[in-house]
Amino acid sequence: MKFFIDTANLEQIKEAQALGVLDGVTTNPSLMAKEGITGKDNILKHYVAICNIVDGDVSAEVIATDFEGMVKEGEALADLHPQIVVKLPMIADGIKACKYFTDKGISVNMTLVFSAGQALLAAKAGATYVSPFIGRLDDISTDGLNLISEIRLIYDNYGYETEILAASVRHTMHIIDCAKLGADVMTGPLSAIMGLLKHPLTDIGLAQFLADYKKGN
Ligand code: G3P
Repeated sequence: MKFFIDTANLEQIKEAQALGVLDGVTTNPSLMAKEGITGKDNILKHYVAICNIVDGDVSAEVIATDFEGMVKEGEALADLHPQIVVKLPMIADGIKACKYFTDKGISVNMTLVFSAGQALLAAKAGATYVSPFIGRLDDISTDGLNLISEIRLIYDNYGYETEILAASVRHTMHIIDCAKLGADVMTGPLSAIMGLLKHPLTDIGLAQFLADYKKGN
């Protein structure tokens, strides 16, 4: 399973990259705003800065909600850097724009996906990635992980190559469960990625090894 980090924070992206397990980055307008990155020029520069830190795909989201606007913005984003993936919202014009970009060989991430039907449409439009938001489904007492299973089944039934990018991942168990269910990618916060490291028996065992080594040296 590929690991993407879901942030626009350059320090956190660098930390995940330094760990050696990072395959890409996802961002959205809320994550940009959280880092205080505002204004079109600053946002575009920030995408380039992210691409210069990581080796993999970097999702950059359009703001337009009409086909022409999405095409114009998406083309400008794709021109920024070869690692940019154009992130489009799961609405009718987003699907049209998805087909437009993928026909031109430009990678697309369909975002704000909350149902299997939306994921089926994304695959039919040739999306590179589909982003089901599992945490936000959990927030409204709906099983986010079940959506991952449904999409996996549907994509495997027909051999769709669209990658399932589990998004709105909040914690370590989301990552582990997504891996069990066969999500191709997960995008989550640095805290969830680093949380995978933690086990008290590792810490106790290491302390014991070091103590025993000291006794004999
Ligand atoms: O990847 C989608 C993500 O940014 C949304 O996460 O935690 O705001 O639901 P969250």
